[in-house]
Amino acid sequence: MNSLLIEISTTLDGAGISQASREADRIVQAAKVAAPADHEDVARAMAQRRVAGVPLAYVIGHETFMGVDLVVGEGALAPREETELLGYTALEAIRASGADSPKIIDMCCGSGNLACAIAHHFPTAKVWASDLTDGCVSVARRNVMHVGVSDRVVVAQGDLFAGLADFGLEGAVDVVVCNPPYISQGKLATDRAVLLEHEPREAFDGGPYGLSIQQRVVKEALPFLRPGGTLLFEIGLGQERQVKMLFDRVKEYEDIRLIANAAGEVRVVSGRKRGN
Ligand SMILES: C[S@@+](CC[C@H](N)C(=O)[O-])C[C@H]1O[C@@H](n2cnc3c(N)ncnc32)[C@H](O)[C@@H]1O
Repeated sequence: MNSLLIEISTTLDGAGISQASREADRIVQAAKVAAPADHEDVARAMAQRRVAGVPLAYVIGHETFMGVDLVVGEGALAPREETELLGYTALEAIRASGADSPKIIDMCCGSGNLACAIAHHFPTAKVWASDLTDGCVSVARRNVMHVGVSDRVVVAQGDLFAGLADFGLEGAVDVVVCNPPYISQGKLATDRAVLLEHEPREAFDGGPYGLSIQQRVVKEALPFLRPGGTLLFEIGLGQERQVKMLFDRVKEYEDIRLIANAAGEVRVVSGRKRGN
């Protein structure tokens, strides 16, 4: 390990950061790319931001998601590794749809991580991504260019499906993927309040029970899905029973699946629109 790496790692370790040497490595690499001539000072400044509690992805400005390098910018949630379960499950649903040129909606797209990764891994897919906030739409558009999928990914803005009204997608969409805000307002005011220190409230605030957006999306996705099309959500720990109930109540979905991660926790719920 060179002396800069040791210095940064020691700084991070002293601040209680658990994977100090791994993070130090990523900071030094990012500094070398950002400022080759001046990378030592840039790496030290990055380490100070990290020590102040800024998430690593914001500090270095990049994150890898489903093997795809993405730009990370404040105003949009930094993509989480846990969301890869939703992305890979969506890819399976797209393959299973049998469509040659599948049409996908990424609702609540944030940085555009799901839209860009799906387009990258499925080269004939066309994706419409949408988010409410200016910050997310701006970062998602940067990622569409960065990943090189601007010919197949459109980024729109609006309250849920309002931004997608003018694309002729009604009844034609094979898969809707959605990682909504799903933390209850009570938790955000208490034990999960730390989340709001650096990332936007819109990324987390799921209303009084953490289910407000899912409750709307199960209904509002229906006019866009083709018969047999699939809606998939990432969910919070322990939400599977309530989210399954939201699908059941609408009565227009079948084949409702609960998908668990490697630790056995259900983090994705999907349902297929009846009629095919
Ligand atoms: C948990 S983040 C997910 C971001 C991204 N898809 C990901 O996987 O990292 C939830 C996103 O929902 C967006 N959002 C919240 N309310 C919305 C609404 N009413 N309409 C559209 N997007 C909304 C937020 O701005 C935020 O980007």
